[in-house]
Amino acid sequence: MKCWSAWYVGHTGRHAEALQVLAALNQLAKKRYLTATAQAIRGGSTQNEVQLATVTGPIIGIRQGTPHMITEITAQELDPGRFIDEQVKDIQQIVGDGTAINALSGGVDSSTVTMLGHRALGRRLRSVFIDNDLMREGEPEQVVAFFRALGVTVEIVDAREEFLAALAGITDPEEKREAVTQTFYRHVFGRLVRERGSRFLLQGTILTDVDETVAGIKRQHNVFEQIGIDPQEAFGYRILEPLVQLRKDAVRIVGRALGLPPALFDRIPFPGPALAARVIGEATADRIRTVRRATAIVERALAGTGAFQFMAVLHEDRVTGMRDGRREFGQQVEIRCWDSVDARTATPSRLPFELLESMAGKILRDVPGVVSVTYNIAPKPPSTIEAV
Ligand code: XMP
Repeated sequence: MKCWSAWYVGHTGRHAEALQVLAALNQLAKKRYLTATAQAIRGGSTQNEVQLATVTGPIIGIRQGTPHMITEITAQELDPGRFIDEQVKDIQQIVGDGTAINALSGGVDSSTVTMLGHRALGRRLRSVFIDNDLMREGEPEQVVAFFRALGVTVEIVDAREEFLAALAGITDPEEKREAVTQTFYRHVFGRLVRERGSRFLLQGTILTDVDETVAGIKRQHNVFEQIGIDPQEAFGYRILEPLVQLRKDAVRIVGRALGLPPALFDRIPFPGPALAARVIGEATADRIRTVRRATAIVERALAGTGAFQFMAVLHEDRVTGMRDGRREFGQQVEIRCWDSVDARTATPSRLPFELLESMAGKILRDVPGVVSVTYNIAPKPPSTIEAV
């Protein structure tokens, strides 16, 4: 039987925090991510649990056989030049004279990783943009054009049918995330890696992705090793995550130092499961189209606000509305706009009412079937930034 180890490395004496983490690990165990680990912890005495919490250090780490710690590098302590040099050397050393594939979505994290990988491997890095039909309007073409200007060739891989088929009939948020994960990693990247003979996938996982997944809040689509899944065994390749010690504010600093233009390093975050994370209930081609249109309106309207992130969410429930004097049992769109530094906590931006009214007007006019528009005013926590 496999033996997984788990360590909680918290701040001295923070017993309550440790217990919270243990509860989260047990929750993961229930989902079969961490069977052996959680059993070992459950078997431990209270004293062991306290002891787990008295080691000083930053975060939870789980890796086969050995304790694994991810040490956070905050934006304040980051030396971007040194960080870039170290990561470039690491990538070169691990990949050797082989090749790697790089998953580029055009978000801040994956764009930064693409530049790092490009610096380390040059043409031995194959950057691909997976068109999963879940991206924003015009995104595939835009990302290719942005990177062409930076001297990086990006290939678009059409996987639209595969993703929509995997999402068909799924309404549970975690199952939806899992369907996206499996399609990305097992099917699409599994195939690309085999075709190319690469053994590595370079991707932009950051620390916030890891700790929300490990804590059982949301299964971020790109987190494996830290919850006990060995990508080599599961998918047939190794995943390299050069940004895993950073949070979003630090990634932006690295992105800028690597020569990304503000249009890329200042881009608002966009989740890996893309618009599937913004459709509550089943993510069909039609419902994705609806949220994509609403997203374009919201992003255009809020681009100048300086907010951390903003989005449109399509609800599952319908409500009675009226159009042209007739009843219309229509759809509801929720607008979210967040102020945040690093996505760990967030508060809704205090947008002028006129701006909200103007967005609502455009959505009701231009997005077929929508009869209700709301604005979220709950902070994270207890809300989260994405609705799914
Ligand atoms: P939540 O919704 O957990 O989001 O408050 C925190 C930040 O992470 C982004 N996010 C994701 N990013 N894969 C990602 O790469 C994911 O599965 C994912 N889910 C959420 C989200 O947009 C926000 O900035």
